[in-house]
Amino acid sequence: MEKIILTGDRPTGRLHIGHYVGSLRRRVELQNSGQFDKIFIMIADAQALTDNADNPEKVRQNIIEVAMDYMAAGLDPEKSTLFIQSQVSELTELTFFYMNLVTVQRLQRNPTVKQEMQLRGYSDEGADNKAGIPVGFFCYPISQAADITAFKATVVPVGEDQEPMLEQTREIVRKFNATYGETLVEPEIMLPDNAACMRLPGTDGKAKMSKSLGNCIYLSDSAEEVWNKVKGMYTDPLHLQVSDPGHVEGNTVFTYLDAFCKPEHFEKFRDCFIGKKVSFTFNSLDEVKDQYRAGGLGDMMIKKFLNEVLNDTLEPIRQRRHELEQNIPYVYEVLRKGSEVARAAAAETLADVKRAMKINYFDPGVLDQLIQEQSQKYQG
Ligand code: TRP
Repeated sequence: MEKIILTGDRPTGRLHIGHYVGSLRRRVELQNSGQFDKIFIMIADAQALTDNADNPEKVRQNIIEVAMDYMAAGLDPEKSTLFIQSQVSELTELTFFYMNLVTVQRLQRNPTVKQEMQLRGYSDEGADNKAGIPVGFFCYPISQAADITAFKATVVPVGEDQEPMLEQTREIVRKFNATYGETLVEPEIMLPDNAACMRLPGTDGKAKMSKSLGNCIYLSDSAEEVWNKVKGMYTDPLHLQVSDPGHVEGNTVFTYLDAFCKPEHFEKFRDCFIGKKVSFTFNSLDEVKDQYRAGGLGDMMIKKFLNEVLNDTLEPIRQRRHELEQNIPYVYEVLRKGSEVARAAAAETLADVKRAMKINYFDPGVLDQLIQEQSQKYQG
């Protein structure tokens, strides 16, 4: 069986470092591993519209932002197919057929959707101050199953918040295959490999990076913007004096270091730990943590170090992004071509699905057979 990846993001904003450690970095590694036959990376504009129906302009603007973030981070159009969801109308058809295999009750149990409904003030209780639940939004897990199965994806690298979507997809695949015969491929989720990457908190220490909370560091932020954000980061509220023992757990600076720090950074950025009053030599993150816990290591030092560590990853991305910004026609051409390739792949699966469901009335051979059957019925 072919090894195929499908994954993607909603284009509702530029991508931040939470996206990067949560999935983007892994995608680039997988792409360059040469272990996959096909890789599809989707900009999920149709899904973004399920809760932004009144703001298609926002979605439209962010398609190009996400595409540039993708390519700047290392996704290579020569190796991965980058495409726009809405341009593959086959996905909508698949969604409509899959809807028959899912109950309203099942959708209501999806924890990610539940959380998003709360966040957006959607309610099924009909309270006056709350908006109702848009049907399209409610059904987006089904449309996500269409995205994944259309490309016969075997592996879906995503953050942990997407786990319920993968579970739903697998259920749909099993139900479809049991009802109509073996047709669809059951995908596997691939989660980030380190706990800090599972869900990077915001710079304010809140559980999630989100544009609306203003606590994101974007891949496209300048070095100056990154430093300002790092300076203002949430650390340990009990670490009032440098000499006080500090807490590492729940300390956002250390969570980011867990996600970004590489062994070579200690040598490369040793100057960060040379101070006017005290200096340290560290060879590993564990040593930094031990010193912080013991007291004497100030927040400013660890923030300077984090800033270097972050920029070590972000600077090459920033440079590539800048080049892409100077070549917008190329970026759109990548998306246009990618969408064509994606469309051809999804069309094959849709044909399989229609055949399995016996709704391929006008396929070669099928029509003749239908005519024969029905004619016999009425002439016999
Ligand atoms: N739900 C994903 C997000 O919010 C985007 C997405 C849409 C997706 N369809 C997908 C991810 C299929 C993986 C596979 O970012």
